[in-house]
Amino acid sequence: SKGNGDTKGKTYTVATDSNFKPFEYLNTKTGELEGFDVDLIKEIAKRAGYEVEFETMDFDGLLAGMQGGRYEIGIAGMSITPEREETLDFSIPYYDSGIILMVPTDSDIESIDDVDGKKIGSRQGSTSESFLGKNTEAQVEAYPEIVTAYMNLANGKLDGVLYDVPNVQYYIAQEGKGKLKTTGEILQGESYGIAFKKGSELVDPSNEALESMIKDGTYAEIYEKYFGE
Ligand code: ARG
Repeated sequence: SKGNGDTKGKTYTVATDSNFKPFEYLNTKTGELEGFDVDLIKEIAKRAGYEVEFETMDFDGLLAGMQGGRYEIGIAGMSITPEREETLDFSIPYYDSGIILMVPTDSDIESIDDVDGKKIGSRQGSTSESFLGKNTEAQVEAYPEIVTAYMNLANGKLDGVLYDVPNVQYYIAQEGKGKLKTTGEILQGESYGIAFKKGSELVDPSNEALESMIKDGTYAEIYEKYFGE
C-alpha cells in the first residue's frame, strides 16, 4: 500500500546533518546536499507517496529537535538505541555500522584498553561519546562537528577519536592516508534507522518502500554509488 490519505502528497521536513560522509554532506562544488541517506529517503518518499525537503543542523540539535517533535523525519546515520526508542520511532535498520578507535599511525594506543587518561575526541550526542563516558576513564572531548576532532587528532591535540566505522574509514581514505589508522576491534555493533516522530503515520509506508527497494535492487544501487570502490 502507498501511505494513507493523510500522508499522501504531503511535504515533510527531513532533519539531517551536513557533515557525515558518505551519508550526508554538502557537495562543495554545487552546494547541494548529497549522500547515501539523502538518496535513500528521497526514493522512499517517492515510493510512499510523500514529498521531502531537507533541513541541516548539528547532530545533537537534530536529536533534540526530533525529540521535541519539531521534525517528522530524521535521517543522519542515526543508530537505533533503546534510549532513543523511548522517544522516537525507527524504520527497519538500513545500514549495519559500529564504532571504532582512530589514532595516528605511530600511536602506542592499541585498543580501547589503552585510552584511560588520554584525550579522546568524539561528537556531541553520539553513541561514541556515551560509550567513552560509560566504559573508559578517557578525557573525552566531544565537539559539535566531528571534523574538529579529526583535525585536532591530525594536529596532535588529541590522542585518538572514537566514531562510526564508515565515517572513520572514509576520512582515513580521503585525508588521513599514512597519518591515521583504525586500531582495535569494532567496539559496538550499531544499526542505523530512519527516525520518525513517535506514532508517525509515515513509519509503515516508509518501511514498505524501503523493503521494496531492498528487493528490487535499488538499495544495492544506491549502496554501490557511495560505498563501491
Ligand atoms: N551513529 C552515531 C549515533 O547515532 C553517530 C551519528 C552521527 N551522524 C551524523 N549525521 N553526524 O550516535
